[in-house]
Amino acid sequence: MSSITDEVNTKRILVLNGPNLNLLGTREPEIYGRLTLSEINDVLHARAKELGVDEINFLQSNFEGELVEAIQKARGRYDFILLNAAALTHYSIALRDAIAAIPVPVIEIHLSNIHKREDFRNNSVIAPVVMGQICGFGIDSYIAALEIAVRKLKI
Ligand code: DQA
Repeated sequence: MSSITDEVNTKRILVLNGPNLNLLGTREPEIYGRLTLSEINDVLHARAKELGVDEINFLQSNFEGELVEAIQKARGRYDFILLNAAALTHYSIALRDAIAAIPVPVIEIHLSNIHKREDFRNNSVIAPVVMGQICGFGIDSYIAALEIAVRKLKI
């Protein structure tokens, strides 16, 4: 039996990818794997459908400002953001402030384990303002983030 709560419990998810992730497939495959971003997005799209997600949209940008605007516009439009901020993770206070400025929960994703790579990748300036971070599992980092977002939205 459906209730009013079920009816308003929408699941709209935005997947954001930052600089150089458009090169996945050929970019340092020993670190990031051989799947292209569009292949990853196809898998997420299919999984989202299975999980009953109402809407899932994807944006990749090499430009910090475009990602900041996408995060700002997510307020009231999306219920969750899955974000691989790529290199911006490590220095973009603008991205951190945009995340902190909106009530939409964000899950931070990385294909690689940023904590066992170069020192400059060990710190995430966005980590303190996201719900949580998943890293080191390749495409499974994205899938796990999607599954967690859906579970959180059902609670
Ligand atoms: C990355 C890790 C970052 O340090 C790097 O700059 C990326 C990808 C990852 O998914 O492992 O571009 O976010």
